[in-house]
Amino acid sequence: MEDLLPRGPARQAGLDWHAGLGALVMGLSMLRLLWRAANLRPVDPPGTPAWQARAAHLAHGALYATTLAVPLTGILEPLGAGPSLRALRPDPHARSLHPALRPLLGEAHELLAHLLLLVVAAHVAAALWHHLVLRDGVLRRMLPGEKPGRG
Ligand code: HEM
Ligand code: HEM
Repeated sequence: MEDLLPRGPARQAGLDWHAGLGALVMGLSMLRLLWRAANLRPVDPPGTPAWQARAAHLAHGALYATTLAVPLTGILEPLGAGPSLRALRPDPHARSLHPALRPLLGEAHELLAHLLLLVVAAHVAAALWHHLVLRDGVLRRMLPGEKPGRG
């Protein structure tokens, strides 16, 4: 991303959209977790093999963890310096993070973002597999009004 975005005002706009949309993802993920805690949760379709249930729970956990950790590392990373993300930084001259933490958080941000992409790809493939091969209605129960088994 940093290499592809051209220098100039468009670069700043791109970074600002990136930060804004990323922060939105984090907020939505937190709202979803609150919703999940307060409501009945989806249950595995009857007869799901144990390894599949474990894989699904692991992948869903990774989706929740990365949709929180990627934006968080992004927000924390430039606290020390850098011209971007003014809106999210109270004081542009503040150096509130240890300098050694900056590159570390930057690397974590990039690595976790790639992990998020990988898990999302596997997740979408699994949803299609449920729909087209297993035909167990798991994808359909994402529709509003569907009344799946819940626990
Ligand atoms: C789900 C949300 C997000 C995703 C998937 C994401 C993903 C990425 C990716 C793939 C890169 C490119 C890494 C590289 O090529 O070096 C990047 C860079 C960056 N992101 Fe995010 N990001 C998210 C949220 C945020 C947020 C909320 C902020 C800050 C408020 C942020 C700040 C940055 C910055 C400053 C960079 C460039 C500098 C660096 O990586 O050290 N990101 N992000
Ligand atoms: C084409 C895109 C997608 C499709 C078709 C899809 C489909 C599904 C389906 C069918 C379920 C199971 C729902 C149930 O058990 O009743 C699910 C759950 C879930 N999806 Fe997706 N999904 C997509 C994209 C994403 C993305 C991009 C994320 C996050 C980055 C995500 C995060 C989750 C999480 C965290 C769960 C678990 C919900 C819970 O049990 O709390 N999904 N998805």
